[in-house]
Formats: sequence, C-alpha cells, structure tokens
Amino acid sequence: MQTASLVLAFTCVLLLTCTQAKIGYFWHITDFHYDPLYTSQGDTRKHCRRTDERGSSGHHRALGRFGDYSCDSSIELIHSALRYMRTRHSENVEFVLWTGDIISAGYNNNEDDRYQAIRNMTELLRMTFSSHFVFPVLGHTDPAPSERLTNLWSHWLPMEALQTLKNGGYYTIEQTQSKLRIVALNTNLFTVREENTQHARRQWDWLDAVLEKATTNKEMVYIVGHAAPGSDSRYNMLSVDANGKYLRMVRRYARIIAGQFFGHLHADTFRVIYDKEHPVSWALLAPSVSPHRELGGSSNPGLRLYKFDTDTGKVLDYTQIYLDLATANRADTGAEWIAEYNLTQYYGLRDVSAESLHNLAEKLRITSQQESSYFNKYIRAYSVKYDIAHNCDGACAHQHFCAITCLEHVAYRQCVEAAASALAASGRSAPLIASLVNIVITFIVALVIVL
Ligand SMILES: *[C@@H]1O[C@H](CO)[C@@H](O)[C@H](O)[C@H]1NC(C)=O
Ligand SMILES: *[C@@H]1O[C@H](CO)[C@@H](O)[C@H](O)[C@H]1NC(C)=O
Repeated sequence: MQTASLVLAFTCVLLLTCTQAKIGYFWHITDFHYDPLYTSQGDTRKHCRRTDERGSSGHHRALGRFGDYSCDSSIELIHSALRYMRTRHSENVEFVLWTGDIISAGYNNNEDDRYQAIRNMTELLRMTFSSHFVFPVLGHTDPAPSERLTNLWSHWLPMEALQTLKNGGYYTIEQTQSKLRIVALNTNLFTVREENTQHARRQWDWLDAVLEKATTNKEMVYIVGHAAPGSDSRYNMLSVDANGKYLRMVRRYARIIAGQFFGHLHADTFRVIYDKEHPVSWALLAPSVSPHRELGGSSNPGLRLYKFDTDTGKVLDYTQIYLDLATANRADTGAEWIAEYNLTQYYGLRDVSAESLHNLAEKLRITSQQESSYFNKYIRAYSVKYDIAHNCDGACAHQHFCAITCLEHVAYRQCVEAAASALAASGRSAPLIASLVNIVITFIVALVIVL
C-alpha cells in the first residue's frame, strides 16, 4: 500500500516535470526576393516585369497574381504568406528567424529604392508580428550594414545587438526565459570578396568570444545565417578558407550548438557536420518564399515552423508549410498555404540530432530500391513539391549525398569524383559518368564565378 502511493507520488513528480518541459515554436522564413516590379502582364524573360516592346507577344501570357515559377515574389505572394503566419499566432510562437535576400537582386540598383522596398517588407513583418521579435540577418543581395538599416530594425533588437549590427552586420541575442542564445551571422563576410576585411576578422573574434562565453554560462546556441557552409553543384558562397574555419569552429563548440539555420539555396535540404567520422552537428536549410531559383529550377514558396523545447533550445521538429503556386493562381478563392510534411514523421526520425540526420543521409545513398524511396521523398521536398524537379538520376542523387555529408570543398569534390570513377570501373552507363563529370565542371565554374 505504502509502496503503491510512493510510486504514485513519484509518477506525479515525473509527470509534472514532463508537462513542464515547455514547447514553443519559431518561424524560419527566408529569401523573399520581393520584386516591386512584378506584374501579371509581365514578360517571363524579363523577370515578369512590364516591357514596352510590342510584337514580342509570345511571352506575354497572363501571369498568375501570386507569381510565376520563373520570377521572384510578387507583393500578393508575400501578403498571402504573412496572412497565413498570422493564423498560427495562437501556437506559442516565440520569435521569427528571417534569413535575408529580402529584395529581388535585379529590381533596381538605386540604393534608396532598394531601401524603400526593405522598409516596406519590415513594416509588413512588424504588423504581422506585432508582439513577437523578428531576428533578421543579411543576405548577399541585401545592403551592407548601416545606421539606416539598423534604425529600421531597432524595435526588434537590444542596444548591444544594434551596435554590432551597425558595424558588422552580426549580433547575438540572449533569451531571458531560457538558456538559449541566438547568434546571427553576416555570412557575406565569409565570401572571397570580404573575407580579408577588418569586419570579417572582427566577426571571427567576436564569434569565438560569444561561443566561449556561452560555454562558460552553460547556454545552448542557435547559429543563424544566410548562406550555409559546404558545397553545392550550383553555388559556393563561402570562400574555401572561411568555410574551413567555420567548420572548425562548429566542431570545437558542437556541444553547445543546438542548431544551425540557413537559407540562400532556395531549397529544402540539410547538412551534417562530422568530427573525424562522428556526426557532431547539423544545419537545416529552409526553402525560399520566392518560387524562382538562380542557376537551376524553381520551387513552390515555403515557410517553416519549428517546434522546440524552450528551456533547453532542443529542436524537436518542424512543419514545412508551402503554397502550391500553380493551384493558387488557378483558384478564385485565394492562396491556400498548407502543411507539406513534418520532419520527424516524414523521414521516420527518432529525433532531430546529428546522429539521426547522419542516418538519414546514409539512406539517401542510392544502393537499393528500398532506400531510393527515401531519396524520392528528399527530392520531392527539395523543390517543395514543384513537380518538374524530378529528373534527378544516379549522378545527381549522389551529388546531393556529397553536398549533405562533405562540407569541406575538397572533400565534396572528391566525393563526387569518387562516384564517377567507381561508376567508370563498374562499366555503368556512360551518360551517368558524363553527368558526374558535368557536375564537377559546373562546380569548378561556380567556384571561378564566385572568385
Ligand atoms: C512601399 O509602400 C508604400 C506605401 O504602401 C508604397 O506607396 C510604395 O510603392 C511601396 N514601395 C515598394 C518599393 O514596395
Ligand atoms: C504535423 O504535425 C502536426 C502536429 O504536430 C499535425 O497537426 C499535422 O497534421 C502534421 N502535418 C503533416 C503534414 O503530417
């Protein structure tokens, strides 16, 4: 009898602690690429902008009001995304990560006009999230840090953060309710063009100091930036040196890094960071709001809602939300954003950890029929269910595997080349080898462009 009540009391204590683990949510939104010049009378060859030339009517089909797969975001698309996010305010949303590339790259070179457009986007977010904090980071098409940009975002950030934002475009936020720290990086300082500047050196020192202090204070950290480390057949934004340095930093502080969040690629994918052979950290890349992707395709517009433990910062899951753009344009009823999938359920993950994502990556190596079903899921998500994205053959699939698991530039190249020679040795189809060689060449070209 006594034992029974003891057990009962003990269970109650357990239950109490269980229910007290507070579940919270945060948004990750990225790459709006808002184009103020988008018009449904636009020309798809001219970014869906109005052209005055007459006679070339072949490209003047009426475009959708929410946008077009070959163009950046219309204002209606952005309005509809924000409207959707409002409907989920009741769900204990704690903050919003906004990872850059706010304005369409080709919109206008005039700095004032671009600033105006950024101000409008900021205003819209401010109205949408009137009682939340939005944490913005700079993308490569955004203006350099300045007094004026800092003023624009001053209502979301504390004094100290505003100071480093103004000087170098980076900052850190201490969450008061929990032991979670947000570290917002300016990944533009990792590019070849800027890596040797004084600002770049300061950011490294600052990052090291922030992570060191977080270790001492037993805080967990989210690293937030525009461009992720690693390689991709399309585009490398980080220089070889900065990339290597960043990865060493992540390895050193892996224990306190509870997540890394990036945008930039306009794709739904992830990265696993290894220390020797062990998976020690992960980065999740959210797809863009813009349906257009530079150098390679299109995707449906996406928004991501993370679920996390607000005490520890541990990421528990995310729901990927999307808009089927073609359907939205056909419907009279307006845009309907819906859940695409939940991370843990979709891939059958035990949790969101480096280990689990490493296991998933291993399943994306296409070696058997059963495992290719995972790859099909992955590639469907990669372009956010945009259906013209599916001719990804063996070589293409392998390139994805290399991008996910080999973040050092040299290792990525070796990974892709190793597959090419293995295929050559086994006398597999020539087109496959040709496309692998193609990937390597594209990679080198991309590198040269960035340099
Ligand atoms: C910004 O918003 C103002 C007021 O709504 C509007 O007049 C202006 O055209 C907008 N500019 C851009 C670039 O979106
Ligand atoms: C994702 O999970 C939520 C509950 O956490 C559920 O309401 C929703 O239906 C799930 N969505 C999908 C697409 O599985």
